[in-house]
Amino acid sequence: MSRILWKHCRTSEHEMVNILIQGQKIISVGSDEPRADEIFDLSGKIVLPGMIDPHVHMRDLGQKDKEDWTSGSRAALAGGVTTVFDMPNTVPATLDPETLELKRKFAEKSDINYKFYLGATEGNLDSLQAILRKNPDDVAGIKVFLAASSSREVITNRETLVAVCRLAREYDRIVCVHTELQECIDIWQASTLEPLAVNHHLLRNRVCAIEGTKICLDIANEIKCKLYIAHVTTEEEIELIRVFKNDNRIYCEVTPHHLLLEHTILEKIGNIGKVNPPLRTERDLAALWQGIEDGTVDTVGSDHAPHLLSEKGKPYQQAPAGFPGLETTLPLLINEFNQNRLDLQQIARLTSGNAARIFDLKEKGRIEPGCSADLSVIDPAAIYRVDPEKFASRARFSPFAGRELYGKVEMTMVNGSIKFRGDGK
Ligand code: DOR
Ligand code: ZN
Repeated sequence: MSRILWKHCRTSEHEMVNILIQGQKIISVGSDEPRADEIFDLSGKIVLPGMIDPHVHMRDLGQKDKEDWTSGSRAALAGGVTTVFDMPNTVPATLDPETLELKRKFAEKSDINYKFYLGATEGNLDSLQAILRKNPDDVAGIKVFLAASSSREVITNRETLVAVCRLAREYDRIVCVHTELQECIDIWQASTLEPLAVNHHLLRNRVCAIEGTKICLDIANEIKCKLYIAHVTTEEEIELIRVFKNDNRIYCEVTPHHLLLEHTILEKIGNIGKVNPPLRTERDLAALWQGIEDGTVDTVGSDHAPHLLSEKGKPYQQAPAGFPGLETTLPLLINEFNQNRLDLQQIARLTSGNAARIFDLKEKGRIEPGCSADLSVIDPAAIYRVDPEKFASRARFSPFAGRELYGKVEMTMVNGSIKFRGDGK
């Protein structure tokens, strides 16, 4: 088996260290320089565990024009992402054993590691049980949408949500929730607010996310199931989660866009910045950062949600929500590291260590002997210009377009093979 030595790496744990890779694994991490078939001098570069992105919409199947596993996994590699958890709101949706089987076939073209979320509806818990009974290793958890968002599968009934939590607990899986509440959104959408992109954050009002998060925390607390709150956006939710979190089964995620962009950007970029839940206010951004600082926030997920640019050009109400994020998430975080807003330990925890722990990926999320050689190399001094024209994703737009970030992904290794080189080699 050939051996690769990465010399002089800066990691979250070491100022300078040598990493030896053999086959699919990391063999040693230390100061010695063992013999190797291939040696890379990575002086000045940062090596992180490959990002585990717990929130990715890979599309494919009936929505290949938006993204498929080939373009999506290339986007992941270009962004230093080595594992993705694919969301179930595909066409068809991941609601039953047959669709899961079909999705497994499509995902075989992927160059990265992946798992699937199962989607819960008001009527498919028996189907989900049939899948979970077999204890499949490639199922990340159960996803619930409490409001429609590029998904038809919405749970509006509290009893069903309780049943999903019971099912998840029985099979020791996690429930991932999009907590915006449909009945609340319906009320705001019937208000006199004009249906315009600049009002998106009011039409999908913050109170709807807060109310939904409250309900989920309450149920998880009662049923004692593991709960993962996707893309938290408000100060109030952070405060609620902080209170409930001490029992070790409540986790939450933020996205780079909710950390870095305010809703006012929609005045300039319109539907490009339309995303669910919506971008919020400066105070909310500060609260999410505080949540990172004090450990309330566990993970950063990209919520990579590719759509056609032509769809984004439609009037507000017809334009889909979401944008691609796989290629920009790590550069955005490294840029924040360069501005002393995050340290490397925090970045490693937020992008891989915590996800590996929460979702029980035993050999991932750490740079240690015996772990999978899933690694990303970043040049923190090189400028990465967000140029959607150059995205590997089929969705060539971004609310971050035009930004110059210090933090360029130079190389991505998956299970011991180099799958991406920024220099094109
Ligand atoms: O903006 C969003 N887009 N939020 C979601 O919850 C779904 C996603 C999508 O699938 O397009
Ligand atoms: Zn999503």
